[in-house]
Amino acid sequence: MSTESLATTARTLVSSGKGILAADESNGTMSQRLQSIGVEASSDSRRDWRQLIFTADGFAEYVSGVIMFDETIRQSSDDGRPLVEILSNAGVIPGIKVDKSTHQLAGSKSEVVTEGLDGLRGRLAEYYDMGARFTKWRAVFSISETTPSDYAISVNAHALGRYAALAQEAGLVPIVEPEILMDGSHSIDSCFAASERTLRTVFEELSAQGVALEGMILKPNMVISSHESPKRATSAEVAERSLTCFKRTVPAAVPGIAFLSGGQGDEEATVNLDAINRLIADEGAPWEVTFSYGRALVATALKTWGGSPANVKKAQKVLVERSRLTSAARQGKYSPGPAGRPST
Ligand code: 13P
Repeated sequence: MSTESLATTARTLVSSGKGILAADESNGTMSQRLQSIGVEASSDSRRDWRQLIFTADGFAEYVSGVIMFDETIRQSSDDGRPLVEILSNAGVIPGIKVDKSTHQLAGSKSEVVTEGLDGLRGRLAEYYDMGARFTKWRAVFSISETTPSDYAISVNAHALGRYAALAQEAGLVPIVEPEILMDGSHSIDSCFAASERTLRTVFEELSAQGVALEGMILKPNMVISSHESPKRATSAEVAERSLTCFKRTVPAAVPGIAFLSGGQGDEEATVNLDAINRLIADEGAPWEVTFSYGRALVATALKTWGGSPANVKKAQKVLVERSRLTSAARQGKYSPGPAGRPST
């Protein structure tokens, strides 16, 4: 696959006003989310939820691509249409998570490494044939006195490089996701330091392994204070620190940065994305900066649905409205306040 073709897909994923929906929760995580709204978890109920999202009228106006889980890419709607086809027909690019989740890192009590390289070449070819055009691999780091360690950064960055090179070889755009978790009580400065170290190593590995930067997307955490930080950073601080960190570490050849929401509430994730894009309007940046949110896009819609067919339309409206607001933030044009809020 030519770099130009990968670059075209990558640029389409981060095109103006659009971002990505991460609907790639594993069966275990999706089941927990369904149980939290009183719905019995099964492959059918997981399908019903994904079908609700993919068939929402107007969704494709704001969302360029959807990341799916292995179960979902093989499923069809209740009237027999493959879910991949529903996305493609709506002009949404189908994507697939290809890692096999985190596992305890040998020799470490608290750190993890993402696995899934064994057999990856074959799985990528199968996903391409099924219609996927981009992929995701997530590495996870936590902040403490002793972490992230150089060891954890090094092995995870190496795996991200191997994954990204294999994905490009198969004609799939890799989303490279090194996530520093928001858990704990650390400050925005600690997040800055950990993000900078991690991103430097990740891009060294991508370069060493011949990954075409033009044909990938970076999915990082924002540089942000932790959930329990005694002093939560303001959105202006998040914007300034995030942009400084990425300008130091992310090469200009990368077409786009698409943030994860990482447990920020939907409003917080929207306001912070808006602040970053407003700062870019002043300062400039070489890449598009958008969203690749999971929870921040769908959490309210999931509650609104509650598993009831009678609530499908209402939940779809909530989802599309949140997508519209996040798209506005992606352009630095979000106005918080009653008029800017979802009409639930
Ligand atoms: P959140 O936006 O819910 O963090 O999910 C994005 C994602 O894909 C995490 O891997």
